[in-house]
Amino acid sequence: MERRTKVIAVANQKGGVGKTTTVVNLAAALSARKRAVLVVDLDPQAHATLALGLEKRPGVSLYAVLTGEKAIVDVIEPTKWNNLNVIPSEVDLAGAELEFGAREDRLEMVRNALAPVKESGAFDYIILDCPPSLGIVMTSSLVASDGVLIPIQAEFLAMDGLALITGSIERIRSSANPQLELNGIVFTMVNSQTRLTQDVIGEVRGHFGDKVCETTIPRNVRVSEAPSMGTPVVFLDPRSKGAEAYKAFAWEFMAKNPTRFEAAAAPAPQPPVSAPQSPAPSGEPGAAENAPAPSSAPES
Ligand SMILES: Nc1ncnc2c1ncn2[C@@H]1O[C@H](COP(=O)(O)OP(=O)(O)OP(=O)(O)O)[C@@H](O)[C@H]1O
Ligand SMILES: [Mg+2]
Repeated sequence: MERRTKVIAVANQKGGVGKTTTVVNLAAALSARKRAVLVVDLDPQAHATLALGLEKRPGVSLYAVLTGEKAIVDVIEPTKWNNLNVIPSEVDLAGAELEFGAREDRLEMVRNALAPVKESGAFDYIILDCPPSLGIVMTSSLVASDGVLIPIQAEFLAMDGLALITGSIERIRSSANPQLELNGIVFTMVNSQTRLTQDVIGEVRGHFGDKVCETTIPRNVRVSEAPSMGTPVVFLDPRSKGAEAYKAFAWEFMAKNPTRFEAAAAPAPQPPVSAPQSPAPSGEPGAAENAPAPSSAPES
């Protein structure tokens, strides 16, 4: 069956809201459900690269593809886990904002760079980890995407931050990418005990309705420890609260954003309600069982 690849940008111009953590763990949880996933690390901080257990290597990032030095297939690296691949980041990407800002094709540059891989259908999902700024890398990433996922924290002025990013999405939709969908808004680092948290989540739900994901990600120490071990928390400690939340979120995300893979599987995946560890309807292994990959080739 022909595969239709979904390109998802995980974006928010605000720093430290959980973008990279969401990219890494959504990707890991999807890969454990046998979806072929490519993470593209577009932040020169390279946190997603490191959190997936890879090193930064000069010349191995999307930068080399954007400059035309390399073909995209030459910068795709396997991780230790089946179905989970990454285009790493490295310091060269830091120059992209200045260097590429005057390029005529600057809006389409990421879309053009990803096109051969997207068209090959080798992946179900290509997930872009955007840097925390509304610069050309993020804009070009949104132009390249089918959908955007916005992680936010339930804080004072959360709506103001959301207005900025949703404004950018609207502008891109009315110009370079009319197909761009808002895939969801996910609350991260939630401390559900506080009144402020509940108020902010309520306010955002009131405004964005079912675009706000049912699943919220709790603040959890295992989530913050995992990057230093180069292992997504859904593999490192699958029973921790953070890992359970990211797995439930991945279910919700797949159900809301089906690929042909989902469409072909009957019944469609449902978020687990009372037993988050229960196997997928198709009997696939859970996130905890995603053994390190024996080979380096991305599944297609
Ligand atoms: N659910 C969580 N519980 C505890 N710590 C978390 C959680 N989610 C993220 N963190 C921690 O918060 C910090 C910021 O998270 P992350 O790097 O994912 O944000 P970001 O939006 O990608 O940041 P940047 O804008 O710098 O790219 C990291 O140290 C991360 O480990
Ligand atoms: Mg980040």
